[in-house]
Amino acid sequence: WAIYAPYVKAINDLKVKRNAVILGHNYMTPEIYHGVADFVGDSLQLAIKATEVEADVIVQGGVHFMAETSKILSPDKIVLMPDMEAGCSLAESITAEGVEEMRAKYPGAPVVSYVNTTAEVKAASDICCTSSNAVQIVDAMESDTVIMTPDQYLAQNVANESKKKVVYWPGSCIVHELYRPEDLRAYREFDPDVKIIAHPECTPEVVAEADFTGSTSGIVKWVKDNNPKSAMLVTECSMASNISDELPDVEFAKPCNMCPFMKKITLEKILYALDTMTGQVEVDAAVADKARLSVEAMIDLSR
Ligand code: 13P
Ligand code: SF4
Repeated sequence: WAIYAPYVKAINDLKVKRNAVILGHNYMTPEIYHGVADFVGDSLQLAIKATEVEADVIVQGGVHFMAETSKILSPDKIVLMPDMEAGCSLAESITAEGVEEMRAKYPGAPVVSYVNTTAEVKAASDICCTSSNAVQIVDAMESDTVIMTPDQYLAQNVANESKKKVVYWPGSCIVHELYRPEDLRAYREFDPDVKIIAHPECTPEVVAEADFTGSTSGIVKWVKDNNPKSAMLVTECSMASNISDELPDVEFAKPCNMCPFMKKITLEKILYALDTMTGQVEVDAAVADKARLSVEAMIDLSR
């Protein structure tokens, strides 16, 4: 922590000077999560927070689609992205043309797009969803067939819990698709007490091995509520690091997989962005107006 202290102090001082808040995703490193973030949460919580913030500046501790979502919901605020290269394999897997392809293939079916998409894809969709409300959103659609983009595994996991026929785009998360059910079974044999907690971007075979599946905040809550002897968080590495100090009795099993995009966000880059006010996220106004309808429809259904 000593090496982080000067950055943490400088950032917290600049937040006051700029009237800025830092919205940090649960995958931020501990020094960001505990040291400078004003609010931490999953994608849905961060989106809702972006509608409530009173500060002039939002610094997004997360990836680009999250910053775009904040800008869409708070168009009059300055939204800073500490590294514009912090993308997401899911967001990169589909364009607005891809959404239209799906509509042509399944006429009349509504498009539910994961928030892990660009503003253009959100604008081309009927409604968004996150990992915490995907089943609820899909079930709320009137049609019997629902198109989900772009995560094929989230879609398959939703289909397993929903009464709808779910058709989907073949995108995937490069972090969660790496987990294999046989590795989880092998770990359970080694430690029968382990609780396996998975994110729904994992394959359905991995989800079938899990004791609980939920959004990143759902995972944090489950572990805090249940305080298991040992837990394997089948998700991004920082999740366990961020909560392990608070839960000294829980042994967190490795391995975990790192998101190279989330890890592009560092204290140094946050400091630079706030100091120079560079990395301002812009979304075309017409696109933002349409995308906002999809995000707000999701937020309204989730309340
Ligand atoms: P959550 O909405 O569960 O935080 O997920 C976002 C994400 O990118 C997970 O990989
Ligand atoms: Fe995208 Fe996967 Fe990284 Fe989440 S963990 S930001 S879904 S690449």
